[in-house]
Amino acid sequence: MKIKRIAVTGGAGQIAYSLLFRIANGDFLGPNQPVALHLLDLPQFEGALKGVQMELDDCVFPLLKEVKVGSDAEEVFGGVHYAFLVGAKPRGPGMERKDLLADNGKIFVGQGKALNNAASKDVRVLVVGNPCNTNCLIAMHNAPDLPRTSFHAMTRLDQNRGVFQLAQKANVHTTEVTHMTIWGNHSATQVPDFLNAKIHGGPAVKLLDRKWLETEFVSIIQKRGAEVIAARGKSSAASAANAAVGALKAITEPTPHGQWFSSAVYTENNPYGIDEDLVFSFPCRSKGQGDFEIVKGLEIDSFLKEKIAITQKELMEERDLVRGLLK
Ligand code: NAD
Ligand code: LMR
Repeated sequence: MKIKRIAVTGGAGQIAYSLLFRIANGDFLGPNQPVALHLLDLPQFEGALKGVQMELDDCVFPLLKEVKVGSDAEEVFGGVHYAFLVGAKPRGPGMERKDLLADNGKIFVGQGKALNNAASKDVRVLVVGNPCNTNCLIAMHNAPDLPRTSFHAMTRLDQNRGVFQLAQKANVHTTEVTHMTIWGNHSATQVPDFLNAKIHGGPAVKLLDRKWLETEFVSIIQKRGAEVIAARGKSSAASAANAAVGALKAITEPTPHGQWFSSAVYTENNPYGIDEDLVFSFPCRSKGQGDFEIVKGLEIDSFLKEKIAITQKELMEERDLVRGLLK
């Protein structure tokens, strides 16, 4: 089998320290797909990157055929088929993710350009670095030769968090919770959709108290990232890496019949009337190899509608803040 080349930015950071080993172990592309890892970090972290490379070497992963490290984005992105854009500052206690925009937004100008110039033309990109929706918008605007549908921002961690909370409340295993949709921004305005979620194949709203769903459930998911930071002193890392693997895997593999997953994607021609030229989380399904569509026709009641309008407004405001970085 031909090697698949996978870039991970922020290679010396905490998410990468979990993500790289999962990819090398075959958790992303499966047990038969040989991979090469291309790691990017800032020049001052090249030494740390070399340490990560040594550790990857010492794991003797059967699927890992090559590890490249560097601080030149265009060099590192050469020929990559997948790119996990993780490298960016994390927030600290008391901050919102959009407070990172001034520092992190500009990273995605250079990385969008570098992907445009050096990556494989069928590259699939997952933006993890926060605020991930708007960073993703910046990257795609700066990669004019790549289809905008090749870019995703990660709301998979929010989806997983939603699954866990519903399962815990209903006292069932997480595998019994499906169709968990996140609408909008990976932020405190995100909309975890309990209306369309299913437990044991039936509506979650039939099993759980609507009041709890509308108040506590929504709030727990919206604030879970901040809660982890308050408890750990650092933002989520292993669960973020796990979600990143799940997010790109979902796009790469055909979605089982009747299911969907959440991913933040470009809003052009979206079936829910969301403002164009945003990166917004929707229910998506994949035909495999990165060919996905937004799932149409989900019920949106007045509660969800109001919340979706709020998250849309926030994304429009973030876009206004980065106008100068968009093409
Ligand atoms: P970290 O500080 O441990 O690591 C970030 C790494 O990125 C560092 O090694 C840093 O040197 C590197 N970096 C910074 N600028 C870079 C650039 N221009 N090019 C390449 N590398 C660069 O942070 P972390 O905990 O790994 O988190 C990374 C990002 O992911 C943060 O923005 C965090 O908020 C975000 N995050 C998103 C989600 C999500 O669900 N979307 C979940 C968790 C974390
Ligand atoms: C998360 O949701 O855990 C990440 O986006 C990190 C953060 O800042 O909350």
